[in-house]
Amino acid sequence: MDYRDEIQKRRTFAIISHPDAGKTTLTEKFLLFGGAIQVAGAVKSNKIRKSTSSDFMDIERQRGISVATSVMGFDYSGLKINLLDTPGHKDFAEDTYRTLTAVDSVILVVDCVKGVEEQTERLMEVCRMRKMPVIIFVNKLDREGKDPFALLDELEATLSIRVRPLSWPISMGTSFQGVYNLYNKSLALFRPGGTTVADEVLAVKNLDDPVLDRNLDNYAAQLKEDVALIEGAYEPFAVKDYLDGALAPVFFGSAVNNFGVKELLDTFTEIAPIPGSRPTDQRMVDPAEKNFTGVVFKIHANLDPRHRDRIAFVRVCSGKFERNKMFLHTRMNKNIRFTSPASFMGARKSIVDEAFPGDVVGLYDTGHFKIGDTLTEGEKIMFQGIPSFSPEVFKVLVNLDPSKSKQLSKGIAQLTDEGVAQLFTQQQGNRKIVGTVGLLQFDVLQYRLEHEYNAACRFEPLALFKACWITADDEGAMEKFCQFKADRIAVDKDGNLVFLAESEWTLRNMIEAAPEITFHFTSEFKRKMQNSKAGNVRS
Ligand code: G4P
Repeated sequence: MDYRDEIQKRRTFAIISHPDAGKTTLTEKFLLFGGAIQVAGAVKSNKIRKSTSSDFMDIERQRGISVATSVMGFDYSGLKINLLDTPGHKDFAEDTYRTLTAVDSVILVVDCVKGVEEQTERLMEVCRMRKMPVIIFVNKLDREGKDPFALLDELEATLSIRVRPLSWPISMGTSFQGVYNLYNKSLALFRPGGTTVADEVLAVKNLDDPVLDRNLDNYAAQLKEDVALIEGAYEPFAVKDYLDGALAPVFFGSAVNNFGVKELLDTFTEIAPIPGSRPTDQRMVDPAEKNFTGVVFKIHANLDPRHRDRIAFVRVCSGKFERNKMFLHTRMNKNIRFTSPASFMGARKSIVDEAFPGDVVGLYDTGHFKIGDTLTEGEKIMFQGIPSFSPEVFKVLVNLDPSKSKQLSKGIAQLTDEGVAQLFTQQQGNRKIVGTVGLLQFDVLQYRLEHEYNAACRFEPLALFKACWITADDEGAMEKFCQFKADRIAVDKDGNLVFLAESEWTLRNMIEAAPEITFHFTSEFKRKMQNSKAGNVRS
């Protein structure tokens, strides 16, 4: 088969949600439909429960499960679907953000009882930034949840995206009757406990079709009223708006009951985008280009604690990846051959001989890779768009054993390459500040520095609100700013200048007081700078 056909067949996406909304359950149902697993319960939740937050071994054990299921490939409806797993716990949100850079679309799961939760908003922010097509699945309709119209309003208001229901629930909780599919005009009747597909799907010609009254008794009138309201209030669904990331279609169902899931999957396979073009520092790379290119978006260490091996996950962006072929690691300017590239499915791992755009391959790594590294067939390019986010928790790294300084430096360098945390070196005094998105990462760092690098350290609390990258068109202005604020300036590990703000107030003041300096809240600023020059605050 020509590899262009392979591209047409690929759909690479992630399911994201606030913990407990039903991501794992939905994933499992998808895999059941795809025939990738045969029994429910085969996919373990990868969430790290709060009660174990200080027990790193437990985190590792649980993360071990999530690694094994990092990328789940399955066939459905003639397509090859790659579902990338994301950690549920918010302290690992950066892992999720990075995974979002490797997918072409997203399914967002929202609990109908809880509505939009904090983490959902943040994940959605990242999707919006990337103009990522998003489908929303409102889950747990078998429970008494919020009114669906109110929920749609809430989705629009809190997620800042237009929504368009494509299915509609008929009552909910104990009286949940089923879902009316607005997209293909059919009625799926709910029978609790179903294990395979919605039990009965009936075609509906129009709202006067007697099939509605016959099957829904008293609920038919309400449905007709609701549908009339929807058709009046919402514009007809345009796939293009969805693909542009401007409109999110919404489905309702109950993942645990496997209800509404097939409708969701069927529509997803119909409308979800094929692998798209990706930006590099030089040019856009089209997936249909003949030469292979790929980007490392995630590194996972400690698959086997006896060997310090890591797996670098590479998304194929163009051409064909082949086992045993020499590829150029562009940052190191080094040719590397991969003898045992792997794909993962559940606890199984298998060798991959070839992979196509949209696929993800796991490469065994002995320390060559950093997040964002690019592999090509010789062209010197670097893929862009894998940002680091401004961290939220900061601590000072204190070396407890000066005779092990080298081990500590090496360890912290490698762990930051993996994206476990970010390191900032303060210009005055050379103080090392470690920034993360959650407290759990400090446990992870300390444990790994001790066990893998034989280094002893301690983290001292530091009251810091944010670290943001700073740039200026005028070098002189930057120099002056850095002198003026010398005690607040640091560099990240790539040498970029960073401003350390103690409080929201100081940051706001500084942004006002120094209009010649641009403050960036993600490390993606280099690319963004080329695109726009107005204002001095950037996301
Ligand atoms: P997550 O990955 O997003 O964190 O969520 P997960 O799928 O683990 O689901 C969280 C809980 O919600 C699970 O219950 C799961 O069974 C339940 N759940 C998922 N979908 C539905 C649904 O449609 N309706 C209802 N009522 N519950 C649903 P748990 O008690 O935490 O775990 P378990 O013992 O059931 O596995």
